[in-house]
Amino acid sequence: MRKIQLLTVCAWFALTGVYAQNNEKSLKEAYSDYFMIGVAVNQRNISDADQSSLVKKEFSSMTAENDMKPVSVHPEEGKWTWEKADRIADFCRQNGIKLRGHTLMWHSQMCDWMFYDKNHNLVKKEVLFERMREHIHTVINRYKDVVYCWDVFNECIADGGRRPNSEGKDQPLRESTFYKICGNDEFIRKAFQFAREADPKALLFYNDYNECDPVKRDRIYEMVKEMKDAGVPIDGIGMQGHYNIYGPSEEDIEAAVSKYAEIVDHIHVTELDIRVNQEMGGQLRFSRNEGVQVTNDQKLLQEAQYAAVFRVMRRHADKVDCVTFWNLSDRDSWLGANNYPLPFDKDYKPKNVYRVIRDFIPSTDNPDIKEDFKPSATCQPRQEYPQVNSQGYVRFRITAPSARYVIASAGHGGGMGGTVLKKQKDGSWMGTTLLPEDEGFHYYTLSIDGVQVIDPGTNSYYGGGRWMSGVEVPAHDDAFYAERTDIEHGNVQKILFPSKVNGDQLRVAYVYTPAGYDKKQKQRYPVLYLQHGWGENETTWPVQGKANIIMDNLIADGKALPFIVVMTYGMTNDIVFGRPFDRGKVAEDFQKVLVDELVPYIDSHFRTMADKKNRAMAGLSMGGMETHAITLARPEVFGHYGILSGGIYTPEEIKDKNQVDYIFISCGSKEWPDRVLKAVSDLKSAGFNAESYVSEGTAHEFLTWRRSLYVMAQKLFK
Ligand code: XIL
Repeated sequence: MRKIQLLTVCAWFALTGVYAQNNEKSLKEAYSDYFMIGVAVNQRNISDADQSSLVKKEFSSMTAENDMKPVSVHPEEGKWTWEKADRIADFCRQNGIKLRGHTLMWHSQMCDWMFYDKNHNLVKKEVLFERMREHIHTVINRYKDVVYCWDVFNECIADGGRRPNSEGKDQPLRESTFYKICGNDEFIRKAFQFAREADPKALLFYNDYNECDPVKRDRIYEMVKEMKDAGVPIDGIGMQGHYNIYGPSEEDIEAAVSKYAEIVDHIHVTELDIRVNQEMGGQLRFSRNEGVQVTNDQKLLQEAQYAAVFRVMRRHADKVDCVTFWNLSDRDSWLGANNYPLPFDKDYKPKNVYRVIRDFIPSTDNPDIKEDFKPSATCQPRQEYPQVNSQGYVRFRITAPSARYVIASAGHGGGMGGTVLKKQKDGSWMGTTLLPEDEGFHYYTLSIDGVQVIDPGTNSYYGGGRWMSGVEVPAHDDAFYAERTDIEHGNVQKILFPSKVNGDQLRVAYVYTPAGYDKKQKQRYPVLYLQHGWGENETTWPVQGKANIIMDNLIADGKALPFIVVMTYGMTNDIVFGRPFDRGKVAEDFQKVLVDELVPYIDSHFRTMADKKNRAMAGLSMGGMETHAITLARPEVFGHYGILSGGIYTPEEIKDKNQVDYIFISCGSKEWPDRVLKAVSDLKSAGFNAESYVSEGTAHEFLTWRRSLYVMAQKLFK
């Protein structure tokens, strides 16, 4: 019985070396030159063995999510409940983790008894201040040895637009019970004074949410500035950082940090989380997204948003001393796991966004992008985008005025799987890749609000099982595929040949015949059967592969013998990502089509040299796998074998040393060059005529294969 080889395409990608590098640093280690990384914890996080080791491994600062809030430690006058807060403080003491105190005063989760007398009437402000003083002193004194900073007051500024008071001035304060009792901001000033009295060393913070919203930002700024000028001991501003995947924009975050940095020396992001819906802020009413599936686009938008937040904070590391995630994992999040807000998932496993945050690329913080962008060679006539600059950065632009988001699937730097475009004032969306892209051709699609579409700016290229957009980053060695006017060109024709494999039908192939084929009626030519990869088809080599242009140039320069190239569909695309497939059957069906149907058809319709010595098979990626299977299964058919980023041959699997004249194995330097080099050296030692080629600076993409064809074609049939 035939041995069935079941694989998934994912497993196959792993086998061929297309996987990310793993870097096992922790978050706090990755950021040790910048700022502390903190986490808000509940009691479970510090008692469960796995969760507490995660806390210890990843974080250098901790905040009690709820257990140090007024209502938690001081529920009634004269009654103190320290147990939970003590446990958190002890955990920090024992493990050398710094503790942020949160929060001394807040309108919510407050000791409401402080506001009222026995008859439930509001007290006079003097009574309130005395109660606040006692509370603040007691709490601070208890944790002085371990708490390095306190959120002294939380959320005193109002949300929303301008709120004119009776004098027509903006009334910036939230109308809390504190405010009702005092009628002004004195309660805030008092709280800071009490805190400073209690601990002259602890850093004292004003903490708020929606702190990047320009209106609220300016209110916070004005209030803190005025208080500091009046001698109120405020050391820092806490930016809560309850964001979402659409906002705030990097520009607004940057503007807020810059503005706060004018008036304080300490900025903390105190409660960072990024929801996958459109809500943000610290309000305690929000949607929990029950039953909603998080999409891949949402994950990518979240990665981009986290990347932006950390980029801004790194740029301001002189003033930013701590960035704290609000909760340890999605399971713990106050927003609920369906808001998907944190770097660790509901099973405490790091998501890709964890790696995006940790494995940041410092050079992307202040990139020096030259503004010499030019339309890509793949643009349709009269289209201006995508563009590429002299450094290889790619810039996308699309007009979609009503879209909520636009993502281009190209641009893979920093753990990201694409480039998020930003809405411009004119309704267009624009985005530049995080890093320069590799030289050569890259496929991409756009996602506009979740609909996968081709960028109308470019021509279409078949790949990924569909027509896609492409962008071309000029290669320094692109002369070998330049479209020259000084030479004769060959011809690529589309042929239809009959097939009986999987039912009677016509199949398609493109056939390249070299310049002069029509004139030299007596000349016969060798033939290369050249296969595409997974998701591609018979158009792939002649279009994005530029196979005919490469051949024309080589032949005109006398570097390659003139030969025919046949490019047909390799039946690769019934294979669906994530689903198992029968590698044996794909190879077997295609073997019949190629060897039993196409080769005889070509030999009878073209002037070929119809023998094994003059017949080669080569393929890229999955086409390389097919080449491997078919050349070994039918040793009588092909005399030259080529695998381009699609595996290797070993001496043991080639039964007869004389069955093959030449073996070519290649890949990009960003793939698995050592494996290719070793395979070829083993083949040579075993007496085979084998050669390797490594394409410098390229990965599993078309420049690797254009160059491979260029090198291989010079050796074939010689
Ligand atoms: C939240 C806690 O995470 C929840 O468990 C609790 O029910 C409500 O408070 N801004 C703050 C935090 O300053 O204290 C809030 O924490 C979230 C908003």
